[in-house]
Amino acid sequence: MAYIVKQKIHGRDYYYLREAVRKGDKVTSKYIAYLGKTKKEAEKKAREISKERESSKEREENIEKDKKQKKKGINMEINMQHKDISIDEMASFCKRKGFVYPSGEIYGGLSGMWDFGNLGVELKNNLKREWWKFHVYNREDIVGIDGAIITNPKVWEASGHVNAFVDVAVVNKKTKEKFKIDKHEISKYENNPDYEIKGEFNPMFTTQIGPVADDSIKAYLRPETAQLIFADFKLVFENSRMKLPAGIAQVGKAFRNEIAPRDFLFRCREFEQMEIEYFINPKEKCIYGIPNMDILVYSSEMQKQGTEMERMKFKDAFEKGIIKTEWHAYWLCQEFLWFVSLGANKNKFRIRQHMQQEKSHYALDTWDLEYEFPFGWKELLGMANRTDFDLKQHEKFSGKDMSILDEKTNEKFIPHVVCEPSLGVERAFLVFMFDAYAYDKSRENIVLRLNPKLAPIKAAVFPIVKREDMEKIAEDIVKDLSQEWNIDYDLGGSIGRRYSRQDEIGTPMCITVDGDSVEKKDVTIRERDSGEQIRVKIVDLKNILRKLIDGEDFFKMGKLVDTRKK
Ligand code: GAP
Repeated sequence: MAYIVKQKIHGRDYYYLREAVRKGDKVTSKYIAYLGKTKKEAEKKAREISKERESSKEREENIEKDKKQKKKGINMEINMQHKDISIDEMASFCKRKGFVYPSGEIYGGLSGMWDFGNLGVELKNNLKREWWKFHVYNREDIVGIDGAIITNPKVWEASGHVNAFVDVAVVNKKTKEKFKIDKHEISKYENNPDYEIKGEFNPMFTTQIGPVADDSIKAYLRPETAQLIFADFKLVFENSRMKLPAGIAQVGKAFRNEIAPRDFLFRCREFEQMEIEYFINPKEKCIYGIPNMDILVYSSEMQKQGTEMERMKFKDAFEKGIIKTEWHAYWLCQEFLWFVSLGANKNKFRIRQHMQQEKSHYALDTWDLEYEFPFGWKELLGMANRTDFDLKQHEKFSGKDMSILDEKTNEKFIPHVVCEPSLGVERAFLVFMFDAYAYDKSRENIVLRLNPKLAPIKAAVFPIVKREDMEKIAEDIVKDLSQEWNIDYDLGGSIGRRYSRQDEIGTPMCITVDGDSVEKKDVTIRERDSGEQIRVKIVDLKNILRKLIDGEDFFKMGKLVDTRKK
């Protein structure tokens, strides 16, 4: 693991990158590079070096993989490299390929609003489905709800959103750039002649309920999905016969009138959230083990002292008292695990604790799961310990009892939300797109290496040439597979061109029907990442595709076809 050290020589600071190397029981430190004289310069250089080391590691791994495959008789030349692109390049790729467009583009679009195209909607739906499977279906302690976007406005009074959900608008007089700051940051700008403080604003969108203005009421488009979980808590708790510790999940739209929507999907005015409120009896400890995974940790203390973030195990971060509760360490690890299990690059994540003044009005402790976007480390998911703040507020404002009975002690108490994993769908979408984006030198085209579970199209079917008998077989395959998945049928252009089109949009498998298929009732499946092909029986296709989407080894599914002879 590499880290930055500062050395004082003749009163001046010099920064170096060193690496901890383990030899048996001993850990020693090795010099890697000189980074410069300022912390900022050093951090920038360290990031560049880490990236370069990572991609040369990827190159070495590819060569190794290549050698191993060759030993097995698989002719897999891996020329593929992950490609870093800017957020603007990603936006234009998404538009070109049918993932995302500016909303109402023919009228010039609308700032902060985006439409998902034919591929974008599939990726987004797959992502939400995988989130729901991981967090709801695969667990016994979480159930879901789907609340209304516009609800009784009292909900937002109780939650504090009407009075406390306030940002301050600031304008840079020279660049005219507008941005929002928290109230605690006002002192940084108020005496600076380069900035003008435009005043406070509430980012909730308002609307009116009832078409006649005189007797209508003012309502809000929800700024988060969380509050309906709290407002419905008692009903859900009773209906689902929930036992604590337990959670309620929700996926749905949220709206914020952001002063400066920017960075494509990163900060929008209309977006979706995937949230869980996880309720516990505060007297009871975490009942789950924390997986043995590590991540970069950036605590509020490290930020205050100006020291570097450190890589450590989630479990150790809890045991050292950096993450205060075991529940928090457990849930942060679960969220990281979800991303990694779907193919995100684990080295681009860190957890960062909110500084005292940064925390929301309801939070006891907050950690963000951050991702290194092309525009820097940014919040991907927020995870606050909201205690019993929200249920107590709703009890106060509604007059309804929000407490439950502890069956063991016969005591009534208001459950605590020890963790609120809250993730924006659009930000997760960006992470998977950035991490999947690769370029293959030999194919001379982009290969979007999306996990098959997320891929918008699971397989494309091609008759090798336009011939009635082959077309008939291909159409029957499409009909059959389409009962379960989004399948493409493509007759246009050379077979190479058809493969490239699918590679660029992340289709993991291409199924080709040829002359032999007519007689032998079999087809080839070509895998996106290796470009290799296997021959399989048509009757087995559905089962094989299911296994491949679930991540089983492609080369075990059929007889390898020697494409060099073709
Ligand atoms: N219920 C807690 C809550 O809403 P938040 O940190 O304000 O907390 C949670 O939002 C997540 O929602 C963020 O981590 C981010 O992923 C997503 N999010 C928030 N504002 C967003 C915006 N303007 N555009 C896109 N995603 C946003």
